[in-house]
Amino acid sequence: MEDHLPLVTRGLCKSYRVGHIRQSRRPALHDLDLEVREGEILGYVGPNGSGKTTTLKLLTGLLAPDRGEARFFGLPLADRAWRHRVGYLPEHPYLYDYLTPAEYLDYVGRLFGLAAGRRRDRTRELLALVGLEKAADVAMRRFSKGMVQRAGLAQALVNDPDLLLLDEPMSGLDPLGRRLVRKLILDLRREGKTVLFSTHILSDAETLCDRVAVLRAGRLVRVGALGEMLRLDVTHMEVLAVGPEAGLPLLEGEVGREAVGDRIRLEVEEEALGRVITGIESAGGRVLAVQPVRQSLEDYFYREMGGDRGGTAEEGPWETA
Ligand SMILES: Nc1ncnc2c1ncn2[C@@H]1O[C@H](COP(=O)(O)OP(=O)(O)OP(=O)(O)O)[C@@H](O)[C@H]1O
Ligand SMILES: [Mg+2]
Repeated sequence: MEDHLPLVTRGLCKSYRVGHIRQSRRPALHDLDLEVREGEILGYVGPNGSGKTTTLKLLTGLLAPDRGEARFFGLPLADRAWRHRVGYLPEHPYLYDYLTPAEYLDYVGRLFGLAAGRRRDRTRELLALVGLEKAADVAMRRFSKGMVQRAGLAQALVNDPDLLLLDEPMSGLDPLGRRLVRKLILDLRREGKTVLFSTHILSDAETLCDRVAVLRAGRLVRVGALGEMLRLDVTHMEVLAVGPEAGLPLLEGEVGREAVGDRIRLEVEEEALGRVITGIESAGGRVLAVQPVRQSLEDYFYREMGGDRGGTAEEGPWETA
C-alpha cells in the first residue's frame, strides 16, 4: 500500500444485518479500493443509499468493516495516531446540546491535548471561520440546522487536520453558508490540506473537486475529473437571446425554444452554434449568453450507470460473503 498517501483503502466491505425474524445481511459497500492524493479535493459522489456515509463511518471507526483495510498517511485504522491528522464532519453531527459552541470546541481541543491558551485561540478562530461568533455563548440546543452544521465543521478543524472527511458538508446551509463552506474547502487546499467530501450535488462537486469518486450501489464505478466525465456528454448548447420586435424566425439547428420574460432561450445542436448566432443577429436579435447544456448528475447516474436499476446497495449482483 502507498504509505505516503493521505488515505488508501483496499477491499473495504460492509454489510448490515436486516430483518428481525429471518436475519440476513445486506451489503452496503463492496470491495472499496480508493486512493486519495495529497492536496486534492476529492468528491465522493453517489445517490442516496449508495454507501457514502457507510464508508466514512468505517474510516473513522464508528463501524467495523467486514473485510478490507484502510490507511491514513500509512497508519492502519487500528493505530489511533492518525486521529491527530484527520478531521471528520459526520452526516448528522451530534453536539452536546447543553454546551455552547465555545465550550464544545474547548472540549474537543482538550480531547486533542491542546493547552488552554491554544484552545482559547483556536476556538475564537474557528467560530469566526464558520460565522458563529455571535452565537458563541448560546446553548447548542437552540441552534438551527445550519448552525449545527457550522459548529460541526468547526469541530472537524480543531486539531488542524491534514485530511478532512466531510459527510455532506453543505447540507442544511443557506446560500451564504454554502459559499462559506466552499471557500473554506478551497482555503484548506491552498494550505496544502487534503479534503474528501461526500455529496450528491453536481454544482458543489463541479466547482470544488479536483477529482470525483462515483459510488453506486456500494460499488466504486468511476474515479476521475468530473469535467472529463461530463464534458463528453455535452450535446447541446443553450443560447440566451433578446429577439427583435417581430420575433425570431425558426433557426436552422434549433431544437427547442422557450420564452423567459423578455428573452428567448434556445437549445441548439453544438455544431450549429455559429449559424444560430449569425441567424439571431441577422434577424435583428442580440445574443446574451451561450453555455453548454450538461446533463445533471442525476441524469448521468441514470444513463451511464445502469439506467433504472436504482441506486441502493441491495440491488447489485452481490457475492455472498
Ligand atoms: N445502520 C444500518 N442498518 C442497516 N442498513 C443500513 C444502516 N445504515 C445504512 N444502511 C443501508 O446501507 C446503504 C448505504 O447507506 P449510506 O447511509 O451509507 O448511504 P449514503 O450514500 O450516505 O446515502 P445518503 O446520500 O442518503 O446519505 C443503504 O441501503 C442503507 O439503507
Ligand atoms: Mg449519507
